Amino acid sequence: MTLYSRITGTGSYLPPRRLTNDELAAELATQGVETSDDWIVERTGIRARHFAAPDVCSSDLGVEAARQALQAAGVLATDIDLIIVATSTPDMVFPSTACILQNKLGANGCAAFDVQAVCSGFIYALTVADAMIKTGTASKALVIGAEVFSRILDFKDRTTCVLFGDGAGAVVLEASDTPGILASDLHADGKHVGILCVPGHVSGGNVLGSPLLKMDGQAVFKLAVGLLDEAARTTLAKAGKTAADIDWLVPHQANIRIMQSTARKLKLSMDKVIVTVDQHGNTSAASIPLALDFAVRSGKVKPGELLMLEGVGGGFTWGAVLLNL
Ligand code: UT7
Repeated sequence: MTLYSRITGTGSYLPPRRLTNDELAAELATQGVETSDDWIVERTGIRARHFAAPDVCSSDLGVEAARQALQAAGVLATDIDLIIVATSTPDMVFPSTACILQNKLGANGCAAFDVQAVCSGFIYALTVADAMIKTGTASKALVIGAEVFSRILDFKDRTTCVLFGDGAGAVVLEASDTPGILASDLHADGKHVGILCVPGHVSGGNVLGSPLLKMDGQAVFKLAVGLLDEAARTTLAKAGKTAADIDWLVPHQANIRIMQSTARKLKLSMDKVIVTVDQHGNTSAASIPLALDFAVRSGKVKPGELLMLEGVGGGFTWGAVLLNL
């Protein structure tokens, strides 16, 4: 009897247009918005981000990451029976980005849906896929985080537009007799809706309210640090493990200072933390699978090691997944 789900392949994709902080600052200066490489690096650790071309959607990025993950797992698209896409920047209002991606991939017929939990989206999606595999509803799932946050950035707001980037990451999650995903922990608290949101909505053919991202950075920062620590500890306790057992922490890549604080609280050396925020910026739901794939492909993270994945984002949502790779 299958008791577990296990990641058997990872993949990722970044759109080719890469902007360093200096390049972004120069572009923003032409619109009278002042920022600098020094400020961005010191406050966030970000040095560069990728932006998708105007005609490229989340499904385009996601399908490339999915193809890589399938290849790494040695699984055919036609063998996939579940696709979950975590995104807050869907191609359309509906149908889901997962359906659009499924068709591009040639996996037609399998279950496909989106999960909307902003920067915790991949943690939510992975937990849902794990549960569906454990209950026998699916056996080979593609779990994808894909975002084009550049579309919802206000390039006149320097407090947010320097933070985010576009990209996608994916994993193949398969039924397994050996673990796999050991434990997960999901939470949300809707009373914090206003501190990180895109408040606009479509109504009668118009967009009502702003369709651009708004964030109270300091409020998000303070909440994130405490909630990530709590989620990590609860997840470890569920699996009967301690922080000392963790081989790698793969956190949501929003700000290096949040990652340093999380590591400090868990008494983990930064050598055990996968960091890609410097090169990718914050890619929301894509950031964790992107970081995971980079860590796997660089040879840093190896099969059998114990990984803590954790994220926090708009909603407020937060959660963690502990797994053996
Ligand atoms: O993915 C979802 C989770 N999101 C996050 O985790 C983000 C969490 N928050 C953060 O990462 C940080 O709060 C920020 C990076 C957004 C901001 O860092 P901070 O240390 O909290 O800076 P601050 O908001 O206190 O701003 C400090 C100063 C302000 O100037 P004054 O009032 O001190 O004169 C800002 O106006 O920095 C100024 N500032 C900038 N200066 C140059 C804000 N943005 C910029 C900028 N360039 N891009």
